[in-house]
Amino acid sequence: GDWSSDVALPIWRHRRGVCSRKFLHMDSLLIKGGVPLHGDVQISGAKNAVLPIMAATLLTAEPCIIRRVPDLSDVKFMGRILESLGCAVKFEGDTLTVQAHRIKGHGDYDLIRKMRGSICILGPLLGRLRKADVSQPGGCVIGTRPIDLHLKGLRALGAKIEIEGGYVRAKAPRLTGTEVFLGGRAGPTVLGTANIMSAAVLAEGVTIIESAACEPEVSDLATFLNAMGAKIQGAGSPTITITGVKALHGAEHEVIPDRIEAATFLIAAAMTHGEITIHGAKPEHLNAVIDKLREAGVKIERRGAAMIAKRGPRLTPVDVTTLPYAGFPTDVQAQMMALMALTPGISIITERIFESRFGHVAELGRLGADIAIEGPSAIVKGGKRLSGAPVMASDLRASAALVLAGLAAKGSTQVNRIYHLDRGYEKIDAKLKQLGGRISRIQE
Ligand code: UD1
Repeated sequence: GDWSSDVALPIWRHRRGVCSRKFLHMDSLLIKGGVPLHGDVQISGAKNAVLPIMAATLLTAEPCIIRRVPDLSDVKFMGRILESLGCAVKFEGDTLTVQAHRIKGHGDYDLIRKMRGSICILGPLLGRLRKADVSQPGGCVIGTRPIDLHLKGLRALGAKIEIEGGYVRAKAPRLTGTEVFLGGRAGPTVLGTANIMSAAVLAEGVTIIESAACEPEVSDLATFLNAMGAKIQGAGSPTITITGVKALHGAEHEVIPDRIEAATFLIAAAMTHGEITIHGAKPEHLNAVIDKLREAGVKIERRGAAMIAKRGPRLTPVDVTTLPYAGFPTDVQAQMMALMALTPGISIITERIFESRFGHVAELGRLGADIAIEGPSAIVKGGKRLSGAPVMASDLRASAALVLAGLAAKGSTQVNRIYHLDRGYEKIDAKLKQLGGRISRIQE
C-alpha cells in the first residue's frame, strides 16, 4: 500500500513511545522475482544531503525553504528533532520550511539516539547558541561509528566537550577559526566535515579543514550555507576554507539527487535483464559506479539528462573496493555484491570504510548466493541460481541488496523489517512497481 501517509507527522503528535514504534514498523516486502524491470524512474533528493542541510537551518532565526526533500522516515525523524529544539517545521509535498526562531540547546534525547544522522545538529547548535547537549547517536548496525573526529574538530574551534552517560555536552563561549585535520583511520568523515563546517561559519576568523570529505553531499551543504550568507570555499575538495561571519539569514535551496538511489536502479536494470531510464540523477556524481558497472558488462548510456541502463550480452566479474568519494561508495557495496552474486566467476569486494558492513552476506546466502567473508573482503562465487526465500534486512543498503536479489531470484522472496529501507529509499515499492516489478508491502 501507500506508506507515505502512514509514517507521517500526525503520529508524532501522539505519545513519543508510540511514534518510535511506528517508525520501526515490521512491514515486509513480498517480491515475485524474475520479471525484467522496464520504464522510467525519477530519482529523489539525497537523504545524506538533506539531513545536514535540515540541521543547518538551526543557524538562523529566519525561515529556510528546502526543496526536493525526499519523503523518508529519517527526514521525518530529523524534522521531529528540529521541532523538539523549538523549530517550526512544515512539510508540503517535497518542500520543507523550517524556522528556528527561538531554539534551545538540548533536543529530545530518545529521538536523537535513534538516528545516526542526528549527530549533525551538534555543529549548527554550537554555532548558533554556543552550546549543545545531545545524546550520542545510534543508527545502522554496520560497525562502530565513533564521533572522535567530530569532537576533535569542534574542540579545535574552542568548544569544551564532555561525554557523560551517553550524552555529548558541548560549550563554546567563543568559537575561533583554526586549522583542523579531519582525516581518520578510514579517511575523511562526511558528517564530521558537515559539523565542523556548520560551526565554523559563525566562528571568528578563518577555519581551514584539511582532509575534508569530498562527497557531493558536503558540497551541497556548503552551497546552502553560502546561500545563507556563509563564506565557504573549496567544498568538494580536501581543503575547505571557511571565513566566519557574524550572522546567517534565511535561504532557499534545492537538494541534489540521491546518487545511491540512482546507483541502485542502475544495478536493478542489470540484475533483472531489464532496461531502466533514470531521470533527475547527476551522472557526474556516479563516475566510480558507472565505471565499475560498465567494466562488468552493464550498458549505461546518457541521453540528455537521463541515463539508460541495461545488461549487455554477458556480465563479467569485477573486483570492487569501497573508498571515500570519488571512489566506489560504501553505500553501494551491498547492491554491487548482489549483482556479482548473479555474475558467473569470482569477484572480490573489499569494504574499506566500515568494519562490519556485511550483514547482507548471510541473507544473500539464503537466496542461494555463494559468498565467503575473508577479513574486510567478501569473495563472491557468482553465477549460482538464486531462488526466493524469506530474508531479514539488517541495515539500509543491505535491505536494498536483498530487494535486488529478490527481484532477480526465481520464486517469492519476503524481505522482512523493511523499516530500514523506508529510512533511505523514497517510495521504493511504488517505484519498482511502476517499472513492472511484482512487489507488494505486507503490513505488520
Ligand atoms: C555518512 C553517510 C553514510 C555513508 C558514510 C560514508 C550520512 C547521514 N551518512 O555517514 O550513508 O555510508 O558517510 O560514506 O550522511 N569515523 C571515525 N571517527 C569519526 C567519524 C567517523 O573514525 O569521528 C570513521 C567511521 O567509523 C568510518 C569512516 O570514518 O570508518 C567514515 O565515516 P563517516 O564518513 O563519518 O560516515 P558518516 O558521516 O557517519
